[in-house]
Amino acid sequence: MKISVLGSTGVIGSLVLEIAEKEKIEVIGLSAGRNIKKLRKQVKKFSPQYISVKRKEDAEKIGKNILWGKEGLKTLATLKKADLIVIAVSGTAGILPTYEAVRAGKRIALANKESLVSAGAIIMEEARKNGAEIIPIDSEHNSLFQLFFYPERPEKVIITASGGPFLKGKPEKIRIEDVLSHPVWHMGQKITVDSATLMNKAFEIVEARWLFSLEPERISVLIHPQSIVHSIFKMKDGALIAHMSYPDMRIPIQYVLLYPKRGEPPSMTLDLTQVRKLEFYAASPEKFPALGIGYKMVSSPSSLSALINGANDEAVEAFLKKKLDFEGIIDVIINVSNKHRFYEPASIEEVYQLVNEGRQRAEKIIEGGK
Ligand SMILES: NC(=O)c1ccc[n+]([C@@H]2O[C@H](COP(=O)([O-])OP(=O)(O)OC[C@H]3O[C@@H](n4cnc5c(N)ncnc54)[C@H](OP(=O)(O)O)[C@@H]3O)[C@@H](O)[C@H]2O)c1
Repeated sequence: MKISVLGSTGVIGSLVLEIAEKEKIEVIGLSAGRNIKKLRKQVKKFSPQYISVKRKEDAEKIGKNILWGKEGLKTLATLKKADLIVIAVSGTAGILPTYEAVRAGKRIALANKESLVSAGAIIMEEARKNGAEIIPIDSEHNSLFQLFFYPERPEKVIITASGGPFLKGKPEKIRIEDVLSHPVWHMGQKITVDSATLMNKAFEIVEARWLFSLEPERISVLIHPQSIVHSIFKMKDGALIAHMSYPDMRIPIQYVLLYPKRGEPPSMTLDLTQVRKLEFYAASPEKFPALGIGYKMVSSPSSLSALINGANDEAVEAFLKKKLDFEGIIDVIINVSNKHRFYEPASIEEVYQLVNEGRQRAEKIIEGGK
């Protein structure tokens, strides 16, 4: 088994390599952004044949035949010799490699959610045409992937949300440190902010639609602070079928790397006698406005999701640079999406244009323009 790992220096990429080492999986491609120090260590350990970084100057520093930029990502996403392409690049940089991997008919372990959020219709159509297979790493979707082996389709699927760091109330002034300390998951900065605003869950609603061809009205969200139940099928007769595991991303990552086999537990196994309580709360869009945005995205033509993805990227960056306060993130997204004319983008280039438009419009609002 040979894999190519895009986003190898990130939280998910590093866990993928940990499992690859444990399971003696050969790593033939590594792609990083700007964390060259970490990449060098990974290269030393795994001796991949293909290496890519974000910038040309970093490629030159590392050595000869090092790929870079979009072409680098494209090469790593389409390696003929790779049995599995892992896409753990964060943000909109993940759209292009996901698109190229499906066009090349690869089996893909997909962590990046922005690609399906922005370009779900196009990517799933290319996957179908080229016989590509997408196996989600995202814990809720990985869990749904496993539930979908059940012979009947559900009336509804429920994905759970931990509720983020402010479930029990927000401090008067929300600091970056408050937002970045997620109660359950250790994740990269961007997704941690998205989890606090619940935009992460809004994106996951859209991701579920595309991965499992679900009608928008069949997808709902439930707040579950313990993050032990990841997803639930609600059947026609009212029965609920849930998937549970200890909240550790090593579990879905190993599932995807070994699929269709299963390996020894990569982390703690869930001991139900030790779980003192499992709580569930309604996740109303009134209380969590990001969920309202999620339901609007999933039931609208895809141009809205691409636009919002760009706007959210810009707003999160501005928040991390202290140019925008926490509550401002959702306000900016609502403001950008209010003046949108909906349509179905016809190409990946159009998707990128929409993402950029979302970024630019958000930037203007953040800077106080119109
Ligand atoms: N963490 C989780 O628990 C989790 C769960 C479900 C889904 N996801 C999704 O998985 C993806 C990765 O999440 P993460 O938490 O691992 O994020 P992360 O720790 O921030 O890692 C992101 C990775 O992408 C690379 N990267 C970023 N921009 C790039 C660019 N323009 N070109 C090339 N490489 C680039 C980074 O490289 P450098 O660091 O070298 O710059 C890093 O390797 C995200 O889309 C996230 O939504 C994460």
